[in-house]
Amino acid sequence: MKFFIDTANLEQISQAESMGILDGVTTNPSLMAKEGVKGNKAIEQHYIDICNIVDGDVSAEVLADDYEDIIEEGKRLAALHKKIVVKVPCTANGIRAIKSFSDMGIRTNCTLVFSLGQALLAAKAGASYVSPFVGRLDDVSSNGIELVSRIVNVYRYYGYQTQVLAASIRSVQHIIQCLEVGADVVTSPLSSIMALLDHPLTEKGLAIFNKAAKELA
Ligand code: G3P
Repeated sequence: MKFFIDTANLEQISQAESMGILDGVTTNPSLMAKEGVKGNKAIEQHYIDICNIVDGDVSAEVLADDYEDIIEEGKRLAALHKKIVVKVPCTANGIRAIKSFSDMGIRTNCTLVFSLGQALLAAKAGASYVSPFVGRLDDVSSNGIELVSRIVNVYRYYGYQTQVLAASIRSVQHIIQCLEVGADVVTSPLSSIMALLDHPLTEKGLAIFNKAAKELA
């Protein structure tokens, strides 16, 4: 399973990259706004900065809603760097645009996916990735992990090449559950990735070993 970090923060991306376990980055308009990025030039430079840090795909989301503007914006984003994957919301215009991008050889990530039907359309349009939002489904008493599992199974059954990129990850448990149901990618905040390291018995064992090490000195 690939690990992507869900942030536009360059410092966090660098920290995750330095750990040697990072496979890519996902961003969205909220995450970009959080970094105070304003204007097309600054937005484009920020995506290039991210691409220069990470050795993997970088999802850059279109802001446009109608088909023609999505196409124009997506082409511009894809031209920034070979690592850019154009992120497109799962709407009628979005699915139409994803099909056009697929025909152009531009890679896409279909986002804001909350149902198997949406995931089916993303795959049929030729999306490179589909992003089911686990945490936001859980927030409304639905089952985000169950949707990831159903998408994985249906894609495997029909042989769709679209990768399942589990998003809106809120915890270590989400990451582990995505692993167990066969997600291709999980994208999460750095905190959830780092929390995978935490176990009290590791800390306890290290304290014992460090004490013994002093006796060896
Ligand atoms: O970036 C897409 C997704 O991961 C956002 O998740 O935490 O805003 O529900 P979240």
